[in-house]
Amino acid sequence: MTLRLKIFLLLLPINLLITPAAIGQAVAYSGVTDSMVLFQENCAVCHGENLEGTPQGTPLRGELQYGESMAEITASIRNGYDVTGMPTWRDIFSSSQIRNIAMYVLETRANVNYATSNFDMPLVIPEDSIETELHSFSIEPVINNLNPLPFSIAPLPDGRLLITEKTQGVSIISNDGTQSALIQGTPQAFDDIYRLDTRLDIERGMGWMFDILLHPNYAENGWIYLYFSDRCNDCNAISREREIPVSMNKLVRGRIEDGQWIDEQTIWQAERKHYSPAGDVGAGGRATFDNFGHVYFTVGMKGSNHRGIQDLATPWGKVHRVNDDGSIPENNPFIGREGVYGSIYTYGHRSPQGLEFDIENGQLWGTEHGPRGGDEVNRLLPGSNYGWPLYSLGMDYDGTPVEYGKDLGIAFELPDIEQPVVDLTPSPAVSSFIITKSSQFPEWNGDFLVGSLKARSLFRFVIENNALVHRETLIEGFARIRDIEEGFNGELYLLLEHNTGGQIVRLAPDN
Ligand code: HEC
Repeated sequence: MTLRLKIFLLLLPINLLITPAAIGQAVAYSGVTDSMVLFQENCAVCHGENLEGTPQGTPLRGELQYGESMAEITASIRNGYDVTGMPTWRDIFSSSQIRNIAMYVLETRANVNYATSNFDMPLVIPEDSIETELHSFSIEPVINNLNPLPFSIAPLPDGRLLITEKTQGVSIISNDGTQSALIQGTPQAFDDIYRLDTRLDIERGMGWMFDILLHPNYAENGWIYLYFSDRCNDCNAISREREIPVSMNKLVRGRIEDGQWIDEQTIWQAERKHYSPAGDVGAGGRATFDNFGHVYFTVGMKGSNHRGIQDLATPWGKVHRVNDDGSIPENNPFIGREGVYGSIYTYGHRSPQGLEFDIENGQLWGTEHGPRGGDEVNRLLPGSNYGWPLYSLGMDYDGTPVEYGKDLGIAFELPDIEQPVVDLTPSPAVSSFIITKSSQFPEWNGDFLVGSLKARSLFRFVIENNALVHRETLIEGFARIRDIEEGFNGELYLLLEHNTGGQIVRLAPDN
């Protein structure tokens, strides 16, 4: 039985005793549970427990006659359709409750369920070829006994793959699908994972490995960039006071020779006072190069409780840019300002999980997680504010709108916040992406291939003139996709997480 159903059955006897109008006030659950109860109590009688429809109400799956966006579904619920038997709910529920119920409808339609991150859903590799609009392909296993928490792969020119596993370190996958021993001498990876009672579905830890990537001139200089969470004890005020470790993202480069990490140089690190006692789940951890000698990297909110994300004196909630040797580019947007990180390129980010430079068009792009709704694909413009925690197209898990500027005393104008090019509501838990130029999938050239965690799907977005013009789900409900990379011969690799072991698969075009 699903957790959702269990909660529902548990609540059923109480619900039968109270009127629909009282439920909103009476039930003190999170927004997610709240909206589920509101729907099951008030709507399921006509639309079915699973949105499948009944003789009194149309199915809320598939195509909807009055529109399928958040705004359109909210309007349907608010106003009703008098003549055809859909009641009006605007006098019964607050507008916040109506938005909550609409979000529940959207989530259920998309099979997005907040009770689980789908870390242990069966991972079955489809045997048959997958037909999509422009290409059909099969999914071929490369390796299937990785650590459950891999983070990044980087194809090497000879066809091998560098890999980071968050709690392990760096290793190399050879062409025949075997994994090397851990590369010795890299920064330490810590494997003490814990889970919170309130969010058992999410694994947490500190001192994790993040992205690994090759310098654009790797063939000549051999530089490999490694992005990780630098963990220390007794190294700042908070760690001394509370006698706990703290950590913050750090970028280094080095070379690999005979299974050893050598020549390490620090490219970027935060001030020690900004090392945080929060785990690395919200730390971002992606990095990318442009073709002008810069490296960009994401630092997520890292448990900052919304504080400091809008403040240029802190490193978190930002995308940073430095030169490949770690020096600060002279044309960085905030360089020269007193007391700020000169490396900051954009700010107002929540949990930035993907970062890519579009060499063709000279543009930087990023993905990030919203809370409940509001996952984003953003075009990252120097000096711009992406809005967290002032504003989001999603809502918080308790069902309230995102408006932490009120608590933090930060005033803003909506036009000052850069809006996403793609809004992903409900949240699939968007992850890493590429802007493909794969010779093996030529019809997808220039398209965004975007992975997701919770929704376990691979999406294709066609973006023209900074607007989404087409969206396709290439693989649906398959596996938590942590990374996607393109090999030197156009191979498309997916890095998958699963509680029984991570995997790498390759998309192999038919014929
Ligand atoms: C008494 C039965 C009944 C109840 C209760 C009811 N609905 Fe409806 N609903 C309908 C019918 C019938 C329609 C189709 C209206 C039409 O075709 O014009 C509809 C239409 C809708 C639509 C628009 C569907 C489309 O195709 O665009 C949405 C969204 C919706 N309902 C959501 C809800 C929600 C959410 C609730 C609970 C808060 C709810 N309904 C409660 C009967 C009901």
